[in-house]
Amino acid sequence: MAVTETTQTTKPRLNAIVDDIHEALVEIITKHKVTYDEYRAAVEWIMKASQQHLEIPLALDVFLASTLDDLEHEAGEGTESNVEGPVYIPGAPRLEKPYVLPMRENEPGEKLVFSGTVRTTDGSPLAGANLDIWQANGACEYSHFQPDVPEYNLRGQLTTDEDGSFEFETVVPAPYEVPNQGATGQLLKALGRHSFRPGHIHFKLSHDQAAPLTTQIYFEGDPWLDSDVVGAAKESLATKLTWDEDADGRRSATCSYDFVLSK
Ligand SMILES: [Fe+2]
Repeated sequence: MAVTETTQTTKPRLNAIVDDIHEALVEIITKHKVTYDEYRAAVEWIMKASQQHLEIPLALDVFLASTLDDLEHEAGEGTESNVEGPVYIPGAPRLEKPYVLPMRENEPGEKLVFSGTVRTTDGSPLAGANLDIWQANGACEYSHFQPDVPEYNLRGQLTTDEDGSFEFETVVPAPYEVPNQGATGQLLKALGRHSFRPGHIHFKLSHDQAAPLTTQIYFEGDPWLDSDVVGAAKESLATKLTWDEDADGRRSATCSYDFVLSK
């Protein structure tokens, strides 16, 4: 790639990365003997995606975001991080005990009581750690992103007790598909891949004596756990749902997860 010496000196990292991208693409084209028709189809896909609202960021999130997150946290100890995703909204209400995420009377989804602890890597409990929680309901709906769902529905913040423990009530989130009506969905379909994410709950944990953590908790046995379309789900972040049924046949679940924050 033709680059002036001055540019190389002022932006060495940018030059190195763009050179490597170019080199990798040339290698792929050569290795697979990509035809001109295939090249034109790729250009057409990029043009189509760029004309669709948020389709390029979606494609980048689906194919690359979890790799960046893994790299940024590879040296970290404690609970593994996970991508924040595009639906976080700051300023979720601070909840009062007993903690129940804000929800409607007939919120879609079976009742879930989620408990656990927050500790440091040396095992000390973290009292007063903040958990900022957000999730979809049992009908794959996120507040602020689906119409007719109240503001901050299934979004809330709580703090841990003296012994680092916490417990909150919510509903079991359903697995959902990332938007698949546009160019990204078309590409996934052409690849023979589905567009599902396994059910999950998002957490941002913080405490003034520990490094902040953004992660997601999944559920063992979820059909999409091993093939999360965004490649984010990790075995270490999956917990077991224990089911119960009341006298009226209503099912509810409990689960727990112990978070470990590095210092
Ligand atoms: Fe999500």
